[in-house]
Amino acid sequence: MDELRDAAQATEAHIAVHWKEEEYYWPPAKFIAQANAGDPGILERFSEKHFPECFKEYADLLTWDTYWHTTLDTSNPPFWKWFVGGTLNASYNCVDRHLARNRNKAAFIWVPEPEDESTAVITYQELFARVNEFAALLRDFCKVKAGDRVTFHLPMVPDLPVAMLACARLGVIHSEVFGGFSGFACGDRIVDSGSHILVTMDAYYRNGDLLDHKVKADQAVEYAREHGVTVDKVLVWRRLPGKYSSPTPMVEGRDFFVDDLLKDYRGARVEPTSMPAEAPLFLMYTSGTTAKPKGCQHSTGGYLAYVAGTSKYYQDIHPEDTYWCFADIGWITGHSYIVYGPLALGATSVIYEGVPTYPDPGRSWRIAERLGVNIFHTAPTTIRMLRKAGPDEPKKYNYHFKHMTTVGEPIEPEVWRWYYDVVGKGEAVIVDTWWQTENGGFLGSSLPALQAMKPGSCGPGVLGVYPVILDEEGNEIPAGSGKAGNICIRNPWPGIFQTIWGRPERFVETYYAKYCTNTESKDWQDWPYFAGDGATHAADGYFRILGRVDDVINVAGHRLGTKELESAALTVDEVAESAAVPVVDELRGRTVEMYVALKPGRDSSAETEAKVSYAIETIIGKIARPKNVWIVPDMPKTRSGKIMRRVIASISNFTDVGDVATLANPEIVESIRRKVQAEKVARGDLPKALSAQELEEIQRFGRVE
Ligand code: PRX
Repeated sequence: MDELRDAAQATEAHIAVHWKEEEYYWPPAKFIAQANAGDPGILERFSEKHFPECFKEYADLLTWDTYWHTTLDTSNPPFWKWFVGGTLNASYNCVDRHLARNRNKAAFIWVPEPEDESTAVITYQELFARVNEFAALLRDFCKVKAGDRVTFHLPMVPDLPVAMLACARLGVIHSEVFGGFSGFACGDRIVDSGSHILVTMDAYYRNGDLLDHKVKADQAVEYAREHGVTVDKVLVWRRLPGKYSSPTPMVEGRDFFVDDLLKDYRGARVEPTSMPAEAPLFLMYTSGTTAKPKGCQHSTGGYLAYVAGTSKYYQDIHPEDTYWCFADIGWITGHSYIVYGPLALGATSVIYEGVPTYPDPGRSWRIAERLGVNIFHTAPTTIRMLRKAGPDEPKKYNYHFKHMTTVGEPIEPEVWRWYYDVVGKGEAVIVDTWWQTENGGFLGSSLPALQAMKPGSCGPGVLGVYPVILDEEGNEIPAGSGKAGNICIRNPWPGIFQTIWGRPERFVETYYAKYCTNTESKDWQDWPYFAGDGATHAADGYFRILGRVDDVINVAGHRLGTKELESAALTVDEVAESAAVPVVDELRGRTVEMYVALKPGRDSSAETEAKVSYAIETIIGKIARPKNVWIVPDMPKTRSGKIMRRVIASISNFTDVGDVATLANPEIVESIRRKVQAEKVARGDLPKALSAQELEEIQRFGRVE
């Protein structure tokens, strides 16, 4: 065991490095020459003295039915209202208004995972027809109307944006649940949003397999029924035309094939419903500190203006570009930067069904080459995966990106450089965009033609967004001090979510209570938005995001709440207590390890470990499957009984557990450490040298309640 201790100490020594400032990279002249934001005057136009009127520039990218009279209404903080008095329809803005000039232009190019299946091009004209027909079906067959909620549990198929835009056409609020989530997770979100219609698909391709997806709809509906919400209709799209690909039976009178129903709506047209700017457009659930996911409610006018503006200036989308955002539409990135932002600009947006390395590591680059993709947008996890699977693959393909994006997790400078040199061939500008489900669009990023790139830093606040780093007492940590703190946004912006669906108190409590000094104040200056991320602010004004300060683990760019994981583990009969901790992972950024203590007399067998894993996978989804489940005799606890997640996180990551003498049961720490680390070493799961950033996160983990 002494070698183990040495290994851990060696790791510690390795970490004790100072934060290294990275060198700047400047955008290529060719990019600057064509950029949408090439005139430095834009920085002045969006400077604080022009706030909030600066956002008129974003709102004017849209077509309003009634033009708004008040840019920002702060009369009921922190429930900000943008573009008050305005009415518009999001579906009209993303589809109809492009028809006159661009009806034959591709709105979406859909690439199925099987390479022998043809790519499908959906022009704006066809999208218009499909959105209208589906809207008619929702209105006339499902009887939904403006303000109702409809839940989708759809994979990466064009039917998903069709369904989103059809809801938007009617003013119906859509709530898409990531396709990889379990039926129970979907059911939970149906209950929370009070949806009576579920739109799903029979099956979809993932890594070469046609997965049964319909089975999850049955679980979701059953779960909702048990929790008091009846789903009246389940609309099932078929992945393969005319063929039902799921072994799960259709339920008579409840389940309907969408292609059958649509026959009755051929050629139907639905007048877009003019909605107030403040009407909710959609809900997007995300994880937080409690076991209950939060339904982030996004507005129509503010949200759409914000994603249109940021797509134009930060994604630099021009009408002639082929833009490929490699995220899932089931997450906010896909909503904002595959569907709403690009379509509001009349762009061509690529949707890929499957995994980036299927059937081989060249797949992504073949897609880019064939479709002439010139803007590429993905997450560090995918970049790491592509790099590991085929570090030299991009060189074999003749594509040229002018612009690349990274989003969702901190990117290691080394990985950033591979992205820049190999994927971008040294020709593409990169934006590292920091933001969250709650935010609608980017918060921190360099402006691609005007601000230099710095690997590992997202950049300064985006146009019209003024971040600040505060310490626990609310004092500002000055730029260049090298000290980490909580990154906050001092001002509202149009893309900010309106509330947590049905839980306005939790909204105020989670995001604003921490730093609001005067709850009576109607001045936005008194209501900084608490983002829940640790960050540093360099002397040049660039922010470096360190990761979550709350109990959220970011696995491969997906937010998982520790409480959600822990309550799933507690559904296993043998389990008395559970704790979820992050483990630094070369590919996925972080993975989850679960620690469980059993009820007295229960058997600590491999079978119990498997049960815990299975419970998490079925209750949340496969993405949450823990890397390891450790059965321990007891959890390290404070004298008041709080489980010290930070201590077990340190054990799992082979870092120093710190001073444990004040715990109620300090002796347990050493025995857990010996067991866990010995087993990890035996499995070849050796300690990784952590970066200063990673170490900071592990040592901080679980500190904020
Ligand atoms: O911790 C930050 C991290 O992802 C969290 C938000 O996750 P989610 O709501 O799922 O949205 C992901 C896509 C917008 C943040 O609190 N994060 C996001 N982008 C970055 C990031 N961390 C570092 N760098 C980024 N560019």
